[in-house]
Amino acid sequence: MTSPVVDLFGVPQQPRRAMGSHDNNSAGHDEWLTPPEVIGALGSFDLDPCSPVDRPWPTAREHYTIADNGLTLPWHGLVWVNPPYSTASKWLAKLSAHGDGIALLFARTETQLFFRHVWPHATALLFLEGRLHFHYANGRRAGNSGAPSVLVAYGDRAAEVLAGTALAGQLVSTSARPHGNEAAA
Ligand SMILES: C[S@@+](CC[C@H](N)C(=O)[O-])C[C@H]1O[C@@H](n2cnc3c(N)ncnc32)[C@H](O)[C@@H]1O
Repeated sequence: MTSPVVDLFGVPQQPRRAMGSHDNNSAGHDEWLTPPEVIGALGSFDLDPCSPVDRPWPTAREHYTIADNGLTLPWHGLVWVNPPYSTASKWLAKLSAHGDGIALLFARTETQLFFRHVWPHATALLFLEGRLHFHYANGRRAGNSGAPSVLVAYGDRAAEVLAGTALAGQLVSTSARPHGNEAAA
């Protein structure tokens, strides 16, 4: 029997074909890779703490995988986080505590994820124009993700990256500040 598809809060969802409609379940959909052109348009990152074991391209100078458990290791420098959606809240809490990096999320601005980890602590957000096409773990480009995406910056350096990128979108600066060096939840 297969696991029911649930959203971030355990609410059952009807499976649909687009990624954005079932991105938060825990039934094996954590491997959606960032389009390489998005990474390329942001410059270089020091660390990707949640990277595939067999990655088709680099996303940072250093990568942690599920074999390392990047949630438990120390993070350093400018960090790139496209989180496993089934545990996104933990990754956002750790990124906010680290205070220097960018996350790629679906722009579900009404969710607990946003109200706990984005709105109170993010320095800037870039709401991307159009919809992304993520990639499968083997590098093949998937269809339209089915939902809008946003890049979320924690810290001034990360906010400057979003302000300077050529990616099309709407930049929103906030007066919020990351947690700084607090321990991650
Ligand atoms: C949404 S994908 C993003 C992959 C890549 N960072 C990118 O931007 O294209 C999330 C990745 O996190 C990995 N992952 C899941 N749990 C992890 C853990 N505890 N530590 C490190 N990586 C993990 C998954 O294997 C998956 O490759």
